[in-house]
Amino acid sequence: MTSPLKVGIAGLGTVGGSVARLLQEQSAVLARRCHRPLQVVAVSARDRNRKRKTPLDHLEWLEDPRQMIGHPDIDVVVELIGGADGVAHDLCTGALQAGQHVVTANKSLLARHGHTLAALAESRGVTLAFEAAVAGGVPIVKTLREGVAANTIERFYGILNGTCNYILTTMAKTGAPFAAALKEAQTLGYAEADPAFDIDGVDAAHKLAILASIAFGTQVNFAGVYCEGIRQICREDVTAAASLGFVIKLLAMAERTADGVIQSVYPCLVPKDRPIAHVDDVFNAIMLKGDYVGEMFMQGRGAGGNPTASAVVADLIDLANARQTRPFGTAAAELESLPGLPITRREGHYYLRFQVRDRAGVVADITGALGREGISIRTLTQRDESHSGGSVPMMLTTHRCREQAVQQALAALAPADYLEEPPHLIRIEYL
Ligand SMILES: NC(=O)c1ccc[n+]([C@@H]2O[C@H](COP(=O)([O-])OP(=O)(O)OC[C@H]3O[C@@H](n4cnc5c(N)ncnc54)[C@H](OP(=O)(O)O)[C@@H]3O)[C@@H](O)[C@H]2O)c1
Repeated sequence: MTSPLKVGIAGLGTVGGSVARLLQEQSAVLARRCHRPLQVVAVSARDRNRKRKTPLDHLEWLEDPRQMIGHPDIDVVVELIGGADGVAHDLCTGALQAGQHVVTANKSLLARHGHTLAALAESRGVTLAFEAAVAGGVPIVKTLREGVAANTIERFYGILNGTCNYILTTMAKTGAPFAAALKEAQTLGYAEADPAFDIDGVDAAHKLAILASIAFGTQVNFAGVYCEGIRQICREDVTAAASLGFVIKLLAMAERTADGVIQSVYPCLVPKDRPIAHVDDVFNAIMLKGDYVGEMFMQGRGAGGNPTASAVVADLIDLANARQTRPFGTAAAELESLPGLPITRREGHYYLRFQVRDRAGVVADITGALGREGISIRTLTQRDESHSGGSVPMMLTTHRCREQAVQQALAALAPADYLEEPPHLIRIEYL
């Protein structure tokens, strides 16, 4: 009888609870697919008395997850606590140092410390696996690292945050304002009580930085991600986008150029006929293009206990079958350190919204400021709903132009007394 691969689970919340349950409920399937049986031997969380999804009384309970470090009965530490620093960081670092494998779903930890942790894992000859850290149940990490490893990837993009996608989908389908759509997402458990990480784009930026490292063979560079969230998106934008043939999506995009890597997360207008425009609600999706494989599109559930547990256990199955890979595909020492390029390097189309006092000369003033920067206007819409002197939204889209030029035009317009609020810019991605 082969000796089991002994597992310690740290964190028994949404994901950890589902992992423990999956390992119990699917034990027969897993036994057939693993060379070595998977055996959970110890668990840890904050509150021992909290009711869990599955009975765990037969397992060793550790008051502090750090007691798993160097524990003689634990081969693999599964870290499902969360947070870039603190306990999760101590646990992962300590376990790798002690020669234990680590499986984690912790994107903030990997976005900040991924390179150091990967180097540590490689130096100790153990695995750091994190399929669950990006796009939940969608196996994009393995696809990029192994499935398309024969290709050069120059660009990929995706919807990597289900909360934002749910909010934007709800706004488009029901006409709800941002605040109401966010509230609904919170009621349904799709958004945290403090949703800042999601709606400000930080969560998607963490995931993008991890994927870019694998795709381009570069060091994780979270600080180099340009990041904008969806708080500014209003009903006018959603309606105007629809009337022009677009939907608004929060896209995470990365491109490797001769000068460096562009990584960005921002809401953008996407033509309705693109596959990514049809990825709705809490779903995630990634589109990548390899030079040999061509285009590839993956879609699935990007969060939630069960889909995320599916990814965590896939990593455990790899370990039980002795399939070990370098965490980011390329050896940590060989991951390049390329500069992150600023968003002002972007060239493309833009949607601009101005909330203006309805009076003579305003349209000419705005179009004049854009014209002076060489920006030509493609469409212009002004809602005719106020009496003269009232406040109206004015929306326009541009032909292809430089971001820097748009920013300069908006800066020149900033002092205008007819502007009721700062102009709002949303990029258009024809993809
Ligand atoms: N939720 C998702 O859909 C999802 C998807 C992909 C990735 N992830 C990632 O998975 C990880 C876990 O997320 P989650 O949603 O499962 O979180 P969660 O529901 O809040 O669970 C966190 C768990 O960690 C335990 N914990 C917290 N602080 C601790 C400490 N100081 N010492 C010991 N245990 C501690 C908690 O204990 P108690 O239960 O006793 O409070 C809880 O069991 C995070 O890195 C997250 O980013 C989550």
